[in-house]
Amino acid sequence: MENQETNARGTWGSKIAFIFAAAGSAIGLGNIWRFPTQVSQNGGAVFVLVYIIAVALIGLTVMLAELTIGRHAQKNPVGAIEHIKPRSPWKLFGYLGVITGVCILSFYSVAAGWAVGYMVKTASGAFRGEVTGQMTDRIFTEFSADPLQVILLLAIIVGLTTFIISRGVKKGIERWTKILMPILFVLIIFLAIRALTLPGAGKGLVFYLKPDFSKFSGTVVLFALGQAFFSLSLGMGTMITYGSYISKSDNLVSSAGWVTFSDTLIAILAGMIIFPTLAFSGQPGDVGGVGLIYKIFPIIFSQIPGGYIFGTLFFALISVAALTSTISLLEVPVAYLVDEKNWSRTKAALGIGTLAFVLGVPSALSSGGTQIFTKLRIFYWFDFIFGNISLAVGALLICVFVGYVWGVKKALQEVFSGNPRFKLKPFWVFSLKFLSPIAIIIILIFIKTIAG
Ligand code: PHE
Repeated sequence: MENQETNARGTWGSKIAFIFAAAGSAIGLGNIWRFPTQVSQNGGAVFVLVYIIAVALIGLTVMLAELTIGRHAQKNPVGAIEHIKPRSPWKLFGYLGVITGVCILSFYSVAAGWAVGYMVKTASGAFRGEVTGQMTDRIFTEFSADPLQVILLLAIIVGLTTFIISRGVKKGIERWTKILMPILFVLIIFLAIRALTLPGAGKGLVFYLKPDFSKFSGTVVLFALGQAFFSLSLGMGTMITYGSYISKSDNLVSSAGWVTFSDTLIAILAGMIIFPTLAFSGQPGDVGGVGLIYKIFPIIFSQIPGGYIFGTLFFALISVAALTSTISLLEVPVAYLVDEKNWSRTKAALGIGTLAFVLGVPSALSSGGTQIFTKLRIFYWFDFIFGNISLAVGALLICVFVGYVWGVKKALQEVFSGNPRFKLKPFWVFSLKFLSPIAIIIILIFIKTIAG
């Protein structure tokens, strides 16, 4: 009896720890920066609607599939696939994940560097007094076009990520996220309430929440699906890696559910801040580009007494949220090199960190820093190819691998451990074998037609 009780407590503790770590990976710039940007560029509410459907039907399915592989094999993505299907070309999925991880890390760190830069800017009083859309637009344009500054900020983010991963100080990070993430959540709720009570907020809400179906298109579906994978950290093996730490007695389904729910909630709330504030500043919903949030948040802070303190704290917390995601991006290639190629952790982290930095420089210089990279839209293409396409291909491979290669029966056995009833079983099996792969294939074919 005594024993059982300790056991149950221990398991509960580790489940919460897992949810925090996985939510730390999922919640980041994807929710606060990329989601509002995509909404504004892809028709507003119609994108939000498709996004929520994509998360519920496909994202959740893939999340559970990745966690199931991870817990079953207890390994990094390449090792996990090798464990389940030895000496097969499915290993290629692992390599795809490793490459995608490095490439997402490169441009993601650029955007994370902006958050750090804005923390300093806000603290030093750049946004005191009357803050208008024109002013924030000018400040962001100048800021992101300063080559030395953006490269330095990129180096700071990649450097910190490399340091944390090489030291393996995950425990410390976990402790910090447990404190900082709830603070970020409370701050976001507070800012959303303030934004919703601004004059003109209603117009922003209409753009954000009232679908205009004339804006519906295949492109909207493509970007919404890509965003779902990006935001949930799916399609490159992150959740396989994190799943490998879950205990056999934990309920994978509810863990997947919690991570998905909290990630989606934060994204939706971020939009509740951005679009009302955008409308308040008198601009239409589809302005802004990649700098959208950096142009809008300073406006809302200026509407709160002592706002620049809030602003500084907010950008600091976003930087932390971004770091818990960059850590998970770097962890996939590093775990691969350590497990499969016998590299030391430090060497792997330094090597991949340096590579991500070098790859990130063109992205950093493509918001005005140099003409050539700006014209080539390097940042945009890295984001599109690795943040959308690669993850979608990876998610498709996961569905086919679990649904057909490993087999639903064996996968289900793993899910049943910790959740013997699994009420969603018929839906999961259907989505894994048919709905998700077919939807992803149709969308990938569609890209060819828009690109060609
Ligand atoms: N999900 C993270 C975010 O939203 C980004 C990420 C993508 C992390 C893919 C890991 C893997 O910020």
